[in-house]
Amino acid sequence: MKVDVVLGLQWGDEGKGKIVDVLTPKYDVVARFQGGPNAGHSLEFGGNKYVLNTIPSGIFHEHCINIIGNGVVVDPVQLKKEIEKAETTGVDIRKNLYISEKAHVILPTHRLVDAASEAKKGVHKVGSTLRGISPTYQDKIGRSGMRIGDLIGQNFMSKYNTAVANHKILLDSLGFEYNLADHEPAFFEAVEFLKGFKIVNTEYYVNQLITDGKRVLAEGAQGTLLDIDFGSYPFVTSSNTITGGACSGLGIAPQKINKVFGIFKAYCTRVGNGPFPTEQENETGELLRKLGHEFGATTGRPRRTGWLDLPTLKYAIMLNGVTDLICTKSDVLSGFEEVMLCDSYSINGKITDELPFNLLDAEVTPQYKAFKGWSGNLSSMRTYNELPETFRTYMDFVESKIGVPVNMISVGPDREETIAK
Ligand code: GDP
Ligand code: IMO
Ligand code: MG
Repeated sequence: MKVDVVLGLQWGDEGKGKIVDVLTPKYDVVARFQGGPNAGHSLEFGGNKYVLNTIPSGIFHEHCINIIGNGVVVDPVQLKKEIEKAETTGVDIRKNLYISEKAHVILPTHRLVDAASEAKKGVHKVGSTLRGISPTYQDKIGRSGMRIGDLIGQNFMSKYNTAVANHKILLDSLGFEYNLADHEPAFFEAVEFLKGFKIVNTEYYVNQLITDGKRVLAEGAQGTLLDIDFGSYPFVTSSNTITGGACSGLGIAPQKINKVFGIFKAYCTRVGNGPFPTEQENETGELLRKLGHEFGATTGRPRRTGWLDLPTLKYAIMLNGVTDLICTKSDVLSGFEEVMLCDSYSINGKITDELPFNLLDAEVTPQYKAFKGWSGNLSSMRTYNELPETFRTYMDFVESKIGVPVNMISVGPDREETIAK
Protein backbone atom coordinates (compact mmCIF):
# COMPACT_ATOMS: atom_id res chain seq x y z
CA MET A 1 0.00 0.00 0.00
CA LYS A 2 1.10 3.53 -0.69
CA VAL A 3 0.43 6.94 0.79
CA ASP A 4 -1.66 9.63 -0.87
CA VAL A 5 -1.10 13.28 -0.04
CA VAL A 6 -3.54 16.22 0.16
CA LEU A 7 -2.11 19.71 0.15
CA GLY A 8 -2.83 23.32 -0.76
CA LEU A 9 -1.48 24.87 -3.95
CA GLN A 10 -1.96 28.53 -3.04
CA TRP A 11 -1.47 30.58 0.15
CA GLY A 12 -3.45 28.27 2.42
CA ASP A 13 -7.17 28.03 3.23
CA GLU A 14 -7.92 26.23 -0.05
CA GLY A 15 -10.39 23.94 1.72
CA LYS A 16 -8.01 21.14 2.80
CA GLY A 17 -10.04 20.31 5.92
CA LYS A 18 -13.23 19.82 3.94
CA ILE A 19 -11.55 17.73 1.25
CA VAL A 20 -9.70 15.49 3.73
CA ASP A 21 -13.03 14.89 5.50
CA VAL A 22 -14.64 13.99 2.16
CA LEU A 23 -11.80 11.60 1.23
CA THR A 24 -11.44 9.95 4.66
CA PRO A 25 -14.00 7.15 4.08
CA LYS A 26 -11.51 5.74 1.54
CA TYR A 27 -8.63 5.72 4.04
CA ASP A 28 -7.72 4.00 7.31
CA VAL A 29 -5.30 6.67 8.47
CA VAL A 30 -5.03 10.47 8.19
CA ALA A 31 -1.66 11.96 9.17
CA ARG A 32 -0.71 15.63 9.50
CA PHE A 33 2.90 16.19 8.45
CA GLN A 34 3.83 19.83 9.16
CA GLY A 35 2.67 23.16 10.50
CA GLY A 36 0.92 23.60 13.79
CA PRO A 37 -1.96 25.61 15.21
CA ASN A 38 -1.34 28.32 12.62
CA ALA A 39 -3.58 26.07 10.52
CA GLY A 40 -7.36 26.32 10.65
CA HIS A 41 -9.08 23.51 8.78
CA SER A 42 -12.87 23.78 8.54
CA LEU A 43 -15.22 20.83 8.19
CA GLU A 44 -18.99 20.99 7.84
CA PHE A 45 -21.53 18.21 8.15
CA GLY A 46 -24.92 17.66 9.74
CA GLY A 47 -25.49 21.40 9.93
CA ASN A 48 -22.41 21.95 12.13
CA LYS A 49 -19.04 23.54 11.45
CA TYR A 50 -15.80 22.41 13.10
CA VAL A 51 -12.40 24.05 12.91
CA LEU A 52 -9.32 21.91 13.56
CA ASN A 53 -5.87 23.39 14.14
CA THR A 54 -3.59 20.49 15.04
CA ILE A 55 -5.82 17.42 15.02
CA PRO A 56 -5.93 15.75 11.58
CA SER A 57 -9.16 16.22 9.63
CA GLY A 58 -10.05 12.50 9.68
CA ILE A 59 -10.97 12.64 13.35
CA PHE A 60 -14.75 12.71 12.89
CA HIS A 61 -14.73 9.30 11.17
CA GLU A 62 -14.81 6.61 13.82
CA HIS A 63 -12.81 4.05 11.84
CA CYS A 64 -9.93 6.43 11.14
CA ILE A 65 -6.55 6.51 12.91
CA ASN A 66 -5.28 10.10 13.15
CA ILE A 67 -1.59 10.82 13.48
CA ILE A 68 0.16 14.06 14.39
CA GLY A 69 3.53 13.51 12.73
CA ASN A 70 7.05 14.48 13.75
CA GLY A 71 7.02 17.44 11.33
CA VAL A 72 4.19 19.15 13.23
CA VAL A 73 4.76 21.66 16.04
CA VAL A 74 2.34 21.12 18.92
CA ASP A 75 1.09 23.65 21.44
CA PRO A 76 -0.16 21.57 24.39
CA VAL A 77 -2.50 24.36 25.56
CA GLN A 78 -4.08 24.72 22.13
CA LEU A 79 -4.26 20.95 21.55
CA LYS A 80 -5.94 20.36 24.92
CA LYS A 81 -8.62 22.93 24.05
CA GLU A 82 -9.09 21.39 20.64
CA ILE A 83 -9.40 17.85 22.01
CA GLU A 84 -11.89 18.92 24.67
CA LYS A 85 -14.02 20.67 22.06
CA ALA A 86 -13.92 17.73 19.64
CA GLU A 87 -14.81 15.32 22.47
CA THR A 88 -18.12 17.14 22.98
CA THR A 89 -19.22 15.71 19.62
CA GLY A 90 -18.84 12.20 21.03
CA VAL A 91 -15.75 11.14 19.05
CA ASP A 92 -13.26 9.01 20.95
CA ILE A 93 -10.08 11.06 20.58
CA ARG A 94 -8.15 8.96 23.08
CA LYS A 95 -8.72 5.89 20.91
CA ASN A 96 -7.94 7.37 17.52
CA LEU A 97 -5.27 10.03 18.05
CA TYR A 98 -1.54 9.26 17.98
CA ILE A 99 1.05 11.96 18.64
CA SER A 100 4.66 11.69 17.49
CA GLU A 101 7.16 11.74 20.31
CA LYS A 102 9.42 13.63 17.91
CA ALA A 103 6.99 16.49 17.21
CA HIS A 104 8.36 19.73 18.64
CA VAL A 105 6.58 21.57 21.44
CA ILE A 106 5.45 25.18 21.26
CA LEU A 107 6.23 26.67 24.67
CA PRO A 108 4.47 29.76 26.05
CA THR A 109 7.72 31.66 25.51
CA HIS A 110 7.72 30.69 21.80
CA ARG A 111 4.41 32.49 21.45
CA LEU A 112 5.81 35.51 23.27
CA VAL A 113 8.93 35.55 21.06
CA ASP A 114 6.68 35.37 17.97
CA ALA A 115 4.75 38.43 19.19
CA ALA A 116 7.94 40.28 20.14
CA SER A 117 9.66 39.59 16.77
CA GLU A 118 6.63 40.64 14.77
CA ALA A 119 6.24 43.83 16.83
CA LYS A 120 9.91 44.64 16.25
CA LYS A 121 9.50 44.26 12.47
CA GLY A 122 6.78 46.91 12.45
CA VAL A 123 5.43 47.55 8.92
CA HIS A 124 7.70 44.79 7.59
CA LYS A 125 6.06 42.13 9.71
CA VAL A 126 5.12 38.81 8.10
CA GLY A 127 1.65 38.95 9.61
CA SER A 128 2.19 35.67 11.42
CA THR A 129 -0.67 33.96 13.22
CA LEU A 130 1.26 34.61 16.49
CA ARG A 131 0.99 30.95 17.41
CA GLY A 132 4.74 30.61 18.07
CA ILE A 133 5.40 28.72 14.84
CA SER A 134 8.59 30.42 13.65
CA PRO A 135 10.39 30.46 17.05
CA THR A 136 9.55 26.77 17.59
CA TYR A 137 10.90 25.71 14.18
CA GLN A 138 13.92 27.96 14.77
CA ASP A 139 14.69 26.05 17.96
CA LYS A 140 14.16 22.75 16.12
CA ILE A 141 16.64 23.70 13.39
CA GLY A 142 18.93 25.30 15.98
CA ARG A 143 18.94 21.97 17.82
CA SER A 144 17.66 23.40 21.05
CA GLY A 145 13.97 22.50 20.82
CA MET A 146 11.82 20.41 23.13
CA ARG A 147 9.94 17.45 21.76
CA ILE A 148 6.71 15.81 22.86
CA GLY A 149 8.74 12.84 24.11
CA ASP A 150 10.56 15.21 26.48
CA LEU A 151 7.28 16.00 28.22
CA ILE A 152 7.15 12.48 29.59
CA GLY A 153 10.91 12.17 30.10
CA GLN A 154 12.88 12.54 33.34
CA ASN A 155 14.59 15.77 32.40
CA PHE A 156 11.50 17.69 31.38
CA MET A 157 11.84 20.53 33.89
CA SER A 158 15.55 21.11 33.34
CA LYS A 159 15.06 21.16 29.53
CA TYR A 160 12.09 23.49 29.95
CA ASN A 161 14.04 25.86 32.21
CA THR A 162 17.00 25.99 29.81
CA ALA A 163 14.73 26.81 26.86
CA VAL A 164 12.85 29.48 28.81
CA ALA A 165 16.09 31.07 30.01
CA ASN A 166 17.20 31.44 26.37
CA HIS A 167 13.86 32.88 25.34
CA LYS A 168 13.93 35.38 28.20
CA ILE A 169 17.27 36.76 26.96
CA LEU A 170 15.69 37.20 23.53
CA LEU A 171 12.52 38.81 24.89
CA ASP A 172 14.52 41.23 27.01
CA SER A 173 16.74 42.16 24.08
CA LEU A 174 13.61 42.95 22.07
CA GLY A 175 12.32 45.10 24.93
CA PHE A 176 9.14 43.05 25.12
CA GLU A 177 7.00 43.20 28.25
CA TYR A 178 5.38 40.00 29.43
CA ASN A 179 4.37 38.05 32.47
CA LEU A 180 5.15 34.36 32.08
CA ALA A 181 3.14 33.53 35.19
CA ASP A 182 0.01 34.34 33.13
CA HIS A 183 0.82 31.47 30.79
CA GLU A 184 2.64 28.74 32.69
CA PRO A 185 -0.20 27.20 34.78
CA ALA A 186 -2.25 26.43 31.64
CA PHE A 187 0.85 25.02 29.95
CA PHE A 188 1.75 22.63 32.78
CA GLU A 189 -1.88 21.57 33.10
CA ALA A 190 -1.99 20.80 29.38
CA VAL A 191 1.27 18.83 29.59
CA GLU A 192 -0.30 16.60 32.27
CA PHE A 193 -3.43 16.24 30.12
CA LEU A 194 -1.44 15.14 27.05
CA LYS A 195 0.28 12.40 29.04
CA GLY A 196 -3.04 10.54 28.86
CA PHE A 197 -2.74 10.27 25.06
CA LYS A 198 -0.86 7.92 22.76
CA ILE A 199 2.59 9.44 22.44
CA VAL A 200 4.44 7.04 20.17
CA ASN A 201 7.19 6.61 17.63
CA THR A 202 4.90 7.43 14.71
CA GLU A 203 7.47 6.70 11.97
CA TYR A 204 7.53 3.00 12.99
CA TYR A 205 3.78 3.02 13.48
CA VAL A 206 2.88 4.58 10.12
CA ASN A 207 5.32 2.36 8.20
CA GLN A 208 3.88 -0.71 9.91
CA LEU A 209 0.38 0.42 8.95
CA ILE A 210 1.52 0.76 5.33
CA THR A 211 3.08 -2.72 5.43
CA ASP A 212 -0.18 -4.05 6.87
CA GLY A 213 -2.01 -2.74 3.80
CA LYS A 214 -3.69 0.23 5.48
CA ARG A 215 -4.56 3.20 3.30
CA VAL A 216 -2.83 6.36 4.50
CA LEU A 217 -3.72 9.96 3.60
CA ALA A 218 -1.12 12.61 4.49
CA GLU A 219 -2.69 16.00 5.25
CA GLY A 220 -0.74 19.18 4.60
CA ALA A 221 -1.28 22.54 6.23
CA GLN A 222 -0.80 26.03 4.79
CA GLY A 223 -0.08 26.05 1.05
CA THR A 224 2.77 25.73 -1.44
CA LEU A 225 3.23 29.50 -1.77
CA LEU A 226 3.88 29.63 1.99
CA ASP A 227 6.58 26.93 1.79
CA ILE A 228 9.81 27.91 3.57
CA ASP A 229 11.94 27.13 0.50
CA PHE A 230 9.65 27.86 -2.44
CA GLY A 231 7.07 30.30 -1.08
CA SER A 232 7.20 34.07 -1.30
CA TYR A 233 10.11 34.30 1.15
CA PRO A 234 10.29 35.84 3.74
CA PHE A 235 6.48 36.07 3.76
CA VAL A 236 6.11 32.36 4.35
CA THR A 237 5.60 29.90 7.17
CA SER A 238 8.52 27.95 8.66
CA SER A 239 7.99 24.44 7.30
CA ASN A 240 7.99 22.54 4.00
CA THR A 241 4.36 22.52 2.93
CA ILE A 242 5.07 20.57 -0.27
CA THR A 243 4.89 16.82 -0.93
CA GLY A 244 8.52 16.43 0.18
CA GLY A 245 7.38 17.66 3.60
CA ALA A 246 5.15 14.58 3.89
CA CYS A 247 8.23 12.33 3.67
CA SER A 248 10.27 14.20 6.28
CA GLY A 249 7.26 15.06 8.42
CA LEU A 250 6.06 11.48 8.78
CA GLY A 251 9.14 9.34 8.12
CA ILE A 252 7.80 7.94 4.85
CA ALA A 253 10.20 7.11 2.00
CA PRO A 254 9.57 9.01 -1.29
CA GLN A 255 8.71 5.86 -3.26
CA LYS A 256 5.80 5.24 -0.87
CA ILE A 257 4.00 8.33 -2.22
CA ASN A 258 1.28 7.52 -4.70
CA LYS A 259 -1.35 10.17 -5.51
CA VAL A 260 -0.92 13.83 -4.73
CA PHE A 261 -4.21 15.73 -4.48
CA GLY A 262 -3.57 19.42 -5.05
CA ILE A 263 -6.32 21.77 -3.90
CA PHE A 264 -6.90 25.21 -5.34
CA LYS A 265 -9.67 27.75 -4.95
CA ALA A 266 -11.33 28.97 -8.14
CA TYR A 267 -9.80 32.34 -7.19
CA CYS A 268 -6.98 33.29 -4.78
CA THR A 269 -6.75 34.45 -1.19
CA ARG A 270 -3.91 35.30 1.13
CA VAL A 271 -3.93 36.22 4.80
CA GLY A 272 -0.95 38.11 6.20
CA ASN A 273 1.58 40.17 4.27
CA GLY A 274 3.59 39.44 1.14
CA PRO A 275 3.30 39.57 -2.64
CA PHE A 276 0.01 38.67 -4.33
CA PRO A 277 0.16 39.50 -8.06
CA THR A 278 -3.54 39.10 -8.85
CA GLU A 279 -4.86 40.80 -5.71
CA GLN A 280 -7.97 42.89 -6.23
CA GLU A 281 -7.93 45.78 -3.79
CA ASN A 282 -11.23 47.07 -5.11
CA GLU A 283 -14.95 46.30 -5.22
CA THR A 284 -14.35 42.95 -6.91
CA GLY A 285 -12.02 41.94 -4.09
CA GLU A 286 -14.57 43.09 -1.51
CA LEU A 287 -17.25 41.03 -3.20
CA LEU A 288 -15.04 37.93 -3.30
CA ARG A 289 -14.34 38.36 0.42
CA LYS A 290 -18.02 38.80 1.22
CA LEU A 291 -19.36 35.97 -0.93
CA GLY A 292 -16.55 33.58 -0.02
CA HIS A 293 -16.69 34.47 3.72
CA GLU A 294 -12.98 35.06 3.44
CA PHE A 295 -12.04 35.59 7.05
CA GLY A 296 -9.31 33.49 8.70
CA ALA A 297 -10.45 30.28 10.43
CA THR A 298 -7.66 30.72 13.02
CA THR A 299 -7.31 34.45 13.53
CA GLY A 300 -10.54 35.86 12.04
CA ARG A 301 -8.48 38.30 9.96
CA PRO A 302 -9.98 39.37 6.62
CA ARG A 303 -8.31 37.48 3.79
CA ARG A 304 -6.90 39.37 0.82
CA THR A 305 -8.59 38.26 -2.40
CA GLY A 306 -7.84 38.14 -6.12
CA TRP A 307 -8.20 36.20 -9.36
CA LEU A 308 -6.83 32.74 -10.09
CA ASP A 309 -3.14 32.85 -10.96
CA LEU A 310 -1.94 30.13 -13.34
CA PRO A 311 1.82 30.84 -13.14
CA THR A 312 1.82 30.20 -9.37
CA LEU A 313 -0.53 27.23 -9.79
CA LYS A 314 1.74 25.61 -12.39
CA TYR A 315 4.73 26.20 -10.13
CA ALA A 316 2.94 24.54 -7.22
CA ILE A 317 1.93 21.56 -9.36
CA MET A 318 5.52 21.11 -10.54
CA LEU A 319 6.95 21.23 -7.00
CA ASN A 320 4.40 18.79 -5.61
CA GLY A 321 4.05 16.29 -8.46
CA VAL A 322 0.28 16.76 -8.33
CA THR A 323 -1.61 13.89 -9.95
CA ASP A 324 -5.18 15.04 -9.20
CA LEU A 325 -6.48 18.58 -8.95
CA ILE A 326 -9.40 19.56 -6.73
CA CYS A 327 -11.10 22.91 -7.24
CA THR A 328 -12.98 24.48 -4.33
CA LYS A 329 -15.28 27.48 -3.93
CA SER A 330 -16.39 27.68 -7.56
CA ASP A 331 -19.88 28.44 -6.17
CA VAL A 332 -18.51 31.72 -4.79
CA LEU A 333 -17.90 33.05 -8.30
CA SER A 334 -21.52 32.43 -9.27
CA GLY A 335 -23.12 35.74 -10.26
CA PHE A 336 -19.95 37.42 -11.55
CA GLU A 337 -20.59 38.68 -15.07
CA GLU A 338 -16.98 38.17 -15.97
CA VAL A 339 -14.38 35.95 -14.34
CA MET A 340 -10.74 36.82 -14.89
CA LEU A 341 -7.80 34.46 -14.85
CA CYS A 342 -4.12 35.34 -14.93
CA ASP A 343 -2.58 33.34 -17.73
CA SER A 344 0.98 34.68 -17.58
CA TYR A 345 3.00 37.59 -16.22
CA SER A 346 4.64 40.50 -17.95
CA ILE A 347 7.94 41.16 -16.15
CA ASN A 348 9.94 44.11 -17.42
CA GLY A 349 8.03 43.88 -20.70
CA LYS A 350 8.71 40.15 -21.15
CA ILE A 351 5.82 37.66 -21.11
CA THR A 352 6.55 34.65 -18.94
CA ASP A 353 4.84 32.14 -16.72
CA GLU A 354 7.91 31.62 -14.56
CA LEU A 355 8.07 33.14 -11.11
CA PRO A 356 10.88 35.61 -10.56
CA PHE A 357 13.36 35.28 -7.66
CA ASN A 358 11.51 37.87 -5.65
CA LEU A 359 7.88 38.50 -6.53
CA LEU A 360 7.90 41.59 -4.34
CA ASP A 361 10.73 43.43 -6.07
CA ALA A 362 9.89 42.45 -9.64
CA GLU A 363 7.53 44.63 -11.70
CA VAL A 364 4.95 41.92 -12.30
CA THR A 365 1.90 42.74 -14.40
CA PRO A 366 -0.57 39.86 -14.58
CA GLN A 367 -1.86 39.12 -18.08
CA TYR A 368 -5.55 38.36 -17.75
CA LYS A 369 -7.91 36.32 -19.86
CA ALA A 370 -11.59 37.12 -19.41
CA PHE A 371 -14.22 34.38 -19.18
CA LYS A 372 -17.96 34.75 -19.29
CA GLY A 373 -19.26 34.27 -15.74
CA TRP A 374 -21.84 31.81 -14.51
CA SER A 375 -24.87 32.02 -12.31
CA GLY A 376 -27.24 29.81 -10.35
CA ASN A 377 -26.89 27.87 -7.15
CA LEU A 378 -23.95 25.58 -7.82
CA SER A 379 -24.10 24.26 -4.24
CA SER A 380 -27.19 22.19 -5.04
CA MET A 381 -25.56 20.51 -8.04
CA ARG A 382 -24.11 17.02 -7.69
CA THR A 383 -22.86 16.08 -11.17
CA TYR A 384 -20.31 17.74 -13.37
CA ASN A 385 -22.65 18.03 -16.32
CA GLU A 386 -25.18 19.97 -14.25
CA LEU A 387 -22.61 22.73 -13.74
CA PRO A 388 -23.06 25.77 -16.02
CA GLU A 389 -21.36 25.49 -19.39
CA THR A 390 -19.49 28.75 -18.81
CA PHE A 391 -17.99 27.28 -15.62
CA ARG A 392 -16.94 24.13 -17.46
CA THR A 393 -15.28 26.27 -20.15
CA TYR A 394 -13.28 27.98 -17.39
CA MET A 395 -12.25 24.64 -15.83
CA ASP A 396 -11.41 23.11 -19.24
CA PHE A 397 -9.10 26.05 -19.90
CA VAL A 398 -7.34 25.59 -16.55
CA GLU A 399 -6.91 21.86 -17.20
CA SER A 400 -5.63 22.41 -20.73
CA LYS A 401 -3.08 24.99 -19.59
CA ILE A 402 -1.88 22.85 -16.71
CA GLY A 403 -2.08 19.33 -18.09
CA VAL A 404 -3.34 17.75 -14.86
CA PRO A 405 -6.96 16.61 -14.55
CA VAL A 406 -9.39 18.34 -12.19
CA ASN A 407 -11.05 15.31 -10.60
CA MET A 408 -13.20 16.92 -7.95
CA ILE A 409 -15.14 20.17 -7.67
CA SER A 410 -16.31 21.49 -4.33
CA VAL A 411 -19.43 23.62 -4.55
CA GLY A 412 -20.01 24.46 -0.89
CA PRO A 413 -18.53 24.00 2.58
CA ASP A 414 -20.59 20.92 3.48
CA ARG A 415 -19.31 17.38 2.99
CA GLU A 416 -22.21 16.72 0.63
CA GLU A 417 -21.49 19.72 -1.57
CA THR A 418 -18.89 17.89 -3.61
CA ILE A 419 -18.80 16.71 -7.22
CA ALA A 420 -16.54 13.91 -8.44
CA LYS A 421 -15.65 14.44 -12.07
P1 GDP B 1 -8.14 24.98 4.88
O1 GDP B 1 -7.24 25.72 5.81
O2 GDP B 1 -7.49 24.70 3.58
O3 GDP B 1 -8.72 23.74 5.50
O4 GDP B 1 -9.36 25.95 4.57
P2 GDP B 1 -10.19 26.84 5.64
O5 GDP B 1 -11.08 25.93 6.39
O6 GDP B 1 -9.27 27.71 6.42
O7 GDP B 1 -10.97 27.81 4.67
C1 GDP B 1 -11.84 27.34 3.70
C2 GDP B 1 -13.22 27.93 3.97
O8 GDP B 1 -14.05 27.72 2.85
C3 GDP B 1 -13.93 27.27 5.13
O9 GDP B 1 -14.79 28.20 5.73
C4 GDP B 1 -14.72 26.16 4.45
O10 GDP B 1 -15.87 25.77 5.20
C5 GDP B 1 -15.12 26.84 3.16
N1 GDP B 1 -15.25 25.98 1.98
C6 GDP B 1 -14.54 24.87 1.64
N2 GDP B 1 -14.91 24.45 0.39
C7 GDP B 1 -15.86 25.31 -0.03
C8 GDP B 1 -16.60 25.42 -1.26
O11 GDP B 1 -16.44 24.67 -2.20
N3 GDP B 1 -17.49 26.46 -1.35
C9 GDP B 1 -17.68 27.35 -0.33
N4 GDP B 1 -18.55 28.31 -0.50
N5 GDP B 1 -16.99 27.26 0.83
C10 GDP B 1 -16.07 26.27 0.97
P1 IMO C 1 -4.13 26.61 6.73
O1 IMO C 1 -3.56 25.24 7.05
C1 IMO C 1 -3.40 30.72 5.57
C2 IMO C 1 0.29 32.58 7.03
C3 IMO C 1 0.17 33.70 8.05
C4 IMO C 1 1.41 34.52 7.69
C5 IMO C 1 2.44 33.44 7.36
C6 IMO C 1 3.35 33.06 8.50
O2 IMO C 1 -5.37 26.92 7.47
O3 IMO C 1 -4.24 26.79 5.25
P2 IMO C 1 3.01 31.67 10.77
O4 IMO C 1 2.01 31.84 11.85
O5 IMO C 1 3.00 30.36 10.09
O6 IMO C 1 4.39 32.06 11.20
O7 IMO C 1 2.58 32.79 9.67
O8 IMO C 1 1.69 32.30 6.95
N1 IMO C 1 -0.39 31.32 7.41
C7 IMO C 1 -1.52 30.88 6.85
N2 IMO C 1 -2.34 31.45 5.94
N3 IMO C 1 -3.68 29.49 6.03
C8 IMO C 1 -2.87 28.90 6.94
O9 IMO C 1 -3.03 27.62 7.32
C9 IMO C 1 -1.75 29.61 7.42
N4 IMO C 1 -0.77 29.35 8.32
C10 IMO C 1 0.07 30.40 8.29
O10 IMO C 1 -1.01 34.43 7.87
O11 IMO C 1 1.17 35.26 6.53
MG1 MG D 1 -7.29 27.46 6.99
